[in-house]
Amino acid sequence: MRDILETLLTREGYDVRLASSGEEGLELARALPFDAAFVDIMMPGLNGIATLDELRRIDEELAVIIITAFASVESAISAMKSGAFDYITKPFKNEEVLVVVRNALERRWLINENRNLRQNIQERYHKFANIIGKSPKMRQVFDLIIQAAPSRSTILIQGESGTGKELVARAIHTHSSRSERSFVTVNSGNLPPDLLESTLFGHVKGAFTGAVYPKKGMFDLADRGSIFFDEIGNVPLETQAKLLRVIQERDFMRLGGMETIKVDVRIIAATNVDLRQMMEEGHFREDLFYRLHVISIQLPPLRDRKDDIPILTQHFLRKYSDENKKGDLELTPEALDLLTEYDWPGNVRELENVIERAVVLTSGQRIGIELIPDHVRKTPNFAMPQFVVPPEGISFKDVITDFEKRLIESTLEAAGGVQKKAAELLHIKPTTLNEMIKRYDIRPRRKRHTVGDAVTPEPVESGAVAVPDLPRDS
Ligand SMILES: Nc1ncnc2c1ncn2[C@@H]1O[C@H](COP(=O)(O)OP(=O)(O)OP(=O)(O)O)[C@@H](O)[C@H]1O
Ligand SMILES: [Mg+2]
Repeated sequence: MRDILETLLTREGYDVRLASSGEEGLELARALPFDAAFVDIMMPGLNGIATLDELRRIDEELAVIIITAFASVESAISAMKSGAFDYITKPFKNEEVLVVVRNALERRWLINENRNLRQNIQERYHKFANIIGKSPKMRQVFDLIIQAAPSRSTILIQGESGTGKELVARAIHTHSSRSERSFVTVNSGNLPPDLLESTLFGHVKGAFTGAVYPKKGMFDLADRGSIFFDEIGNVPLETQAKLLRVIQERDFMRLGGMETIKVDVRIIAATNVDLRQMMEEGHFREDLFYRLHVISIQLPPLRDRKDDIPILTQHFLRKYSDENKKGDLELTPEALDLLTEYDWPGNVRELENVIERAVVLTSGQRIGIELIPDHVRKTPNFAMPQFVVPPEGISFKDVITDFEKRLIESTLEAAGGVQKKAAELLHIKPTTLNEMIKRYDIRPRRKRHTVGDAVTPEPVESGAVAVPDLPRDS
């Protein structure tokens, strides 16, 4: 196999050195500069992983490509975790080897590029690929993007809604060697399973009624590029198995087809649910979970990085004032204070919407607190009740149901009975609220006793739940 690789790579113009063991390889690496190393995982003496570790100590930017005999999740994952650039499985095709080597060299080049880039962002900008942030937490995210972008490894982006997961996914693609190719987004949630599969993998003629013509899928589109699975947690279990296959084997079959199709894609996935919990409950495949987790990027909620609020505000002010031709706009210090105090459950997206609205509505150049929506202006005087669980225990479901019901009732009152407004106050979709109203059979109440727009839950009367006096607005 060494000889085959030597012939193949030399023919392509690479300068190749052979080593018959891990130890010998290390010696070479200490003596000469290399761009890439192929290391078999099963070797007598120093095994592949140990050799990989030591090679990375000698040159941390060396692209180490692991060769495994079987596509076992464990050995491939532990190699990738220890910093392998990529892996190929035996038996391999020549083209496969050449693609991996080409990627490795491109990465080397990108690492240098990115090093300059990183210096630039840290010295001059609070911005990286349209992502605004100067908080230490966001800087860490930028660093991770820069480090992870050049490799082919699957990346999982986690974070609450509106924290910028899609922006990060795009930034990864843009800073990879695949940036010239497509970035394809899959919205996993809104399609029924079979339609999702035919969208992803395409189908052959006659695969189902109505499949008059064969069709290519998103994986074909994304070949040599990146594919972004938004809300990966929504992918049904059967489809998860097929995704795993694409990640491991780098091939797939069309719906109704027999032939396997090779594909070279980088998978980026995002989620705002706890995938680990889904996995523990059996709704997410364990093997896929670990496969996706090779590199994970956690996006902090906006309330945990409030030092970013002023520059984000500035950024959106400029963006929307340009869009609306409003000239130089600024926020009064009081208005900015309000924005900094608020907790932003909808994160950056919510902040962006608030600024856009203010820019559209303002008639002058200064935006004051009167243009900031009520719910941002009033620090909510909401406190969770204290729960005292009785010795005999209590039904979790009943308590939660009771709580939800009362919260909805109070919010409806605060919203003057307008469901759309109430849904807004609770940051849920009107259809979700409507479903809950029906489910709990909630009827409008006559008596009104609310403080402004704030949501004030009433004491829960169930004997098991004791509620202290709720703090009021001073
Ligand atoms: N750090 C940031 N800098 C500038 N704009 C941002 C930042 N984070 C988010 N945004 C903007 O906020 C909006 C929401 O971002 P994005 O769609 O990436 O969030 P998300 O995490 O994918 O949300 P969801 O889970 O709801 O899909 C977009 O308009 C995006 O441009
Ligand atoms: Mg998104």
